[in-house]
Amino acid sequence: MAQRLTVIGTGYLGATHAACMADLGFEVLGVDVDAEKIARLTRGDLPFYEPGLEPILRRNLENGRLRFTTSYEEAAEFGDVHFICVGTPQKPGEYAADMRYVDDAVDSLAPLLTRACVVVGKSTVPVGTAERLSRRLTELAPAGDVVELAWNPEFLREGYAVEDTLHPDRLVVGVRSDRAEKVLREVYASMIAGGVPFIVSDFPTAELVKVSANAFLATKISFINAMAEVCEAAHADVTKLSEALSYDDRIGGKFLGPGLGFGGGCLPKDIRAFMARAGELGVDQALSFLREVDAINIRRRIRMVDLARELLGGSFIGRTVGVLGAAFKPNSDDIRDSPALDVATSIRAQGGQVTVYDPQALKNARRAHPDLTYGSSAMDAVDGAHVVLLLTEWKEFRELDPEVLGSAVAERNIVDGRNALDPEQWRTAGWQYRALGRP
Ligand code: UDX
Repeated sequence: MAQRLTVIGTGYLGATHAACMADLGFEVLGVDVDAEKIARLTRGDLPFYEPGLEPILRRNLENGRLRFTTSYEEAAEFGDVHFICVGTPQKPGEYAADMRYVDDAVDSLAPLLTRACVVVGKSTVPVGTAERLSRRLTELAPAGDVVELAWNPEFLREGYAVEDTLHPDRLVVGVRSDRAEKVLREVYASMIAGGVPFIVSDFPTAELVKVSANAFLATKISFINAMAEVCEAAHADVTKLSEALSYDDRIGGKFLGPGLGFGGGCLPKDIRAFMARAGELGVDQALSFLREVDAINIRRRIRMVDLARELLGGSFIGRTVGVLGAAFKPNSDDIRDSPALDVATSIRAQGGQVTVYDPQALKNARRAHPDLTYGSSAMDAVDGAHVVLLLTEWKEFRELDPEVLGSAVAERNIVDGRNALDPEQWRTAGWQYRALGRP
């Protein structure tokens, strides 16, 4: 009989994993302590924006393969494989990850496990966590050592979560036994058959794959953004530089997009948690470059504010600023550590009258920053603006017509924070166009 799966934690990662595994034919039970979230998911109402996911959620609720609950008892009873997909946010005032949700999940589930099963961690955690949780499981589970732990990091990107879950670049599983490996090979059989590389390792290696992948990606972005700083000083164009670099196969063009830098719920906090963990392991020197990666990234936000102020002649006081974008990247409504909102709030703190528009993230932005003003469309947000800032490169912003936008603003000034527009086109339409890393 096919394995029955539970997915504990139904945020971006868990809800996607639960719906996609049900779509592959498994019976899946999603578990969360948040009753409201569970009620929404049960109605087929996705609590966040993720292209393509809602139809999958609905179709599997309808065919009965997917259900949701707040009951750990039900989960323990139901599951042969329990995926842990809860968040590991940054601890307030510290670099380290807050492990409370992972620990709570294990502590709630383990005492109810009375038969053989595999608990599979997918959350991004400091290396050494799996070892610790494995001991805790054996200690707490009445079924003892037939309850096993495995670590199977998740690499999905928001905005492409379905594609990344169903067609991952690779599957990585950290296991301690052939049995756990066999169970995970069964769970992922269709993907393995489809040619997805399946890498089996020990616990710490599996945990490290995830954080080192994110560290590499963050480094690549900060590398090109450091080049942008040099380009600005040398009157060079970082977008041309990036294009030229991208044709070198060894470098590649992905994650080489210069601009306002990275944000979101993963990259920023993951590199910080990685540094914190390296410190604990006595190898902080090995990751000291990540401090620089983080610093370059933060400097982009400051530079963005400076550029906007420059265009306004040195002050935001009494000036109106139209901000396009609130999500940390397009195709997402996630505003966690969003560079766009960081820029918007600092301009507002410096006396600017800021109006923000985003196609999907306004609800989240309003909740987190009720002090900002929000527009109902791009045109509304730039109405009467002395400067327009493009901070998240949604398609609808990339395709904006400079003449149409120009008819709404008070002054034709734009800063392209994502190098998403054609400078010639905007300059021809009478705009003062500025961008990060370009003359
Ligand atoms: C990331 C990883 O890609 C994913 O594998 C991991 O599981 C979770 O973290 P995500 O946070 O969804 O995914 O976003 P991603 O698409 O990686 O973008 C991260 C940030 O980098 C965004 O703010 C984006 O705007 C920025 N970015 C990306 C750049 O500034 N330049 C680029 O060239 C690419």
